[in-house]
Amino acid sequence: MELWQCAAVVTGAASGLGAETARYLAEAGAKVTAIDIDAAGVDKVSRQIGGLGIVCDVSDAAATEAAIAQARQTHGAARVLVHCVGRAEAHRLISAEGVMELDAFRRLVDVNLISSFNVLRLAAADMATLPPLGSGERGIIIFTASVAAYEGQSGETAYAASKGGVVSMILPAARELGRIGVRVVGIAPGLFGTPTLFAMERNLDPRIVEDIPFPHRFGDPAEFALLVVHVVKNVMINGTVLRLDGGYHR
Ligand SMILES: NC(=O)c1ccc[n+]([C@@H]2O[C@H](COP(=O)([O-])OP(=O)(O)OC[C@H]3O[C@@H](n4cnc5c(N)ncnc54)[C@H](O)[C@@H]3O)[C@@H](O)[C@H]2O)c1
Repeated sequence: MELWQCAAVVTGAASGLGAETARYLAEAGAKVTAIDIDAAGVDKVSRQIGGLGIVCDVSDAAATEAAIAQARQTHGAARVLVHCVGRAEAHRLISAEGVMELDAFRRLVDVNLISSFNVLRLAAADMATLPPLGSGERGIIIFTASVAAYEGQSGETAYAASKGGVVSMILPAARELGRIGVRVVGIAPGLFGTPTLFAMERNLDPRIVEDIPFPHRFGDPAEFALLVVHVVKNVMINGTVLRLDGGYHR
């Protein structure tokens, strides 16, 4: 699918991978709506790219429905939805402070998994109203998983479970939405130098990058955004999760 004049929604667009994705999509000519819970950040990014900024908690059904409706009113129904919202927290199941709170698990599932399902259903409903393009394609939904979905570390049981749920949604959603020409794809980043990474690994040893086969450095959000643009353009990529990790296995 070509991005020129195409309406696109990016969630988690105030920071990190989402902010860079919003910039790349806008540079490619898309009409971008940036959604995030961080009002100052979303205002800054949407001004930079000349797009629409909406403050919204995307794990909330009514608020997200209203945000998608506002995006539709401004740019038309989106053919591209890139979901970059995420939260990372490390918790030991049992530690000197006691047993892990169940609410901490719920919080991660809410932000990482429930929000993904929430935008999936709302974006798909909008895409279904659009006429198909020449290729028969109506739209694409891209999720951000994590290599933790496959290789979670000690302390990541909740985060890994929330991302594993995202990975599991992709194939059945692609099978169902393929009937209307909508693709569903996941990207599983390795280590990217953003606030989420440093929240998860507070005492992160910078030598960790030596464990990445190549290149020996954190990923740059621009490399994530570049893959998003490729996935949008390449109609054969569907129903799968692409690792973007420099060969890093934990
Ligand atoms: N950085 C990494 O190394 C890495 C690795 C694997 C996966 N990921 C995933 O990539 C995605 C993007 O993360 P990032 O590294 O860019 O982090 P980031 O912290 O820079 O960005 C996450 C954004 O999500 C927003 N957000 C959080 N909860 C929200 C909510 N309920 N509603 C709306 N917005 C909300 C935050 O305000 C923030 O702007 C996340 O899903 C993260 O789990 C990141």
